[in-house]
Amino acid sequence: YETEAAQTPPMGWNPWNAFRTDVDEQKIRGSAEALVNNGLAQLGYRYVNIDDGWALQRRDDGSLKIHDTMFPSAVVDGHPNGSFVPFTDFIHSLGLKAGLYTDIGHNTCAQRWDATSPNLPVGSIAERQVGSMDHAEQDMKTIFGTWGFDYVKIDACGVADYAPDVEPVQSGRFNVFPPYIVRGDIPNSDPDAVEALYADLGTAIKEWGGDDAVLSICAWGEALSPRWGNKRGNLWRTSPDIEFHWESMLRNIDSAVDRTLYAGPGHWNDPDMLAIGHGDFDENHLTEARAHMSMWAIMASPLLIGYDLRDAPQPLLDILGNREVIAIDQDAAGNQGVPYRDGEAMVVVRTLAGDGARAVVFFNRGDEPVSATVDWTQLGFAPGSEASVRDVWTHENLAAAKGAISVDLGAHEARLFRLKGTPADADAVWLDEMPG
Ligand code: GLA
Repeated sequence: YETEAAQTPPMGWNPWNAFRTDVDEQKIRGSAEALVNNGLAQLGYRYVNIDDGWALQRRDDGSLKIHDTMFPSAVVDGHPNGSFVPFTDFIHSLGLKAGLYTDIGHNTCAQRWDATSPNLPVGSIAERQVGSMDHAEQDMKTIFGTWGFDYVKIDACGVADYAPDVEPVQSGRFNVFPPYIVRGDIPNSDPDAVEALYADLGTAIKEWGGDDAVLSICAWGEALSPRWGNKRGNLWRTSPDIEFHWESMLRNIDSAVDRTLYAGPGHWNDPDMLAIGHGDFDENHLTEARAHMSMWAIMASPLLIGYDLRDAPQPLLDILGNREVIAIDQDAAGNQGVPYRDGEAMVVVRTLAGDGARAVVFFNRGDEPVSATVDWTQLGFAPGSEASVRDVWTHENLAAAKGAISVDLGAHEARLFRLKGTPADADAVWLDEMPG
């Protein structure tokens, strides 16, 4: 997927982890304003995305319709289906970029509608459809061409049909359909069929969104986007949704950490949005929140905040806003780190732009203290040479090192260093190893 978009991993904010389906325009606008006011926007967090729940399940004239009780500004004269232009104008007026969510299939993951809407959906499945199946060109024209979005996240839940004779059940504000019936011709376990749907959407996105439009693929599993994501989008999920506990974060790290060779400018593994602020990563778990952020930075992962920024504790903002950590995530060379593992101790080495520049994370996955070591071979430094060491979290220069660096780590602790050393001369190493 060759465009100019996402030369570094996308950074921004998405409402899903904070609000799930209990989202509305005010919450999104409020977090967008907070991004600007608290300084995170200037640090690079610039995409403000709308996730699932915005589409009204009524496509009777074929085009997408906005859930206007959630997005009151969408009610605009002359736009019978509603318009996101007032919303994207607002986001753009803050100097930010706007993103929207859809699906390759007929429905979205939360597939539901607002029971209180006067436009309660009736009619055929095609008329109720919210996802972009069979509407690739039309929907991308609407999203990019008409509404002015800059980014689209496209899920893969909807390659399934509603059971036509099943009644929705009430759940909170929403009517929800019971489990889907998977469409026989395009099961979402068929990687070729799923890839082909993303390919069509990608073509339409380039046409209507231009070279800067970001395509975020939300399909995972061994057979899905981790294999072909770099051919079809700018970022692709490698795992199921992050949950707000430690084991889930480890699972998502493991889904992406070995996929170093897929990543590079324009193409990023996506172990999902940040859980910082929630559960095991909340303001009482700053060690865990820093470890989460350290690992995302060393893996060159997208940094999409999932916390309600209208009311965020300063220690969390400090973690999300550490400029030296962000600089590693956003390093221009676009190399994802290379992992080494020794029991619960994990070391990940990232080659940064600039001769001899490296980042290294020492990460304790477990509940007991461990020590972790990285050596000059793993770092690609010349034997006998010295390297400077900077603690990126504390902004302190540490003593220079030679040969190896070892650190002690408490439970769930990560340390993140930036190093500057002398790159090994590959030829010299090779000749040294030649038998006498
Ligand atoms: C899936 C995605 C999430 C979110 C929800 C919305 O679970 O993986 O990131 O978009 O759908 O329903």
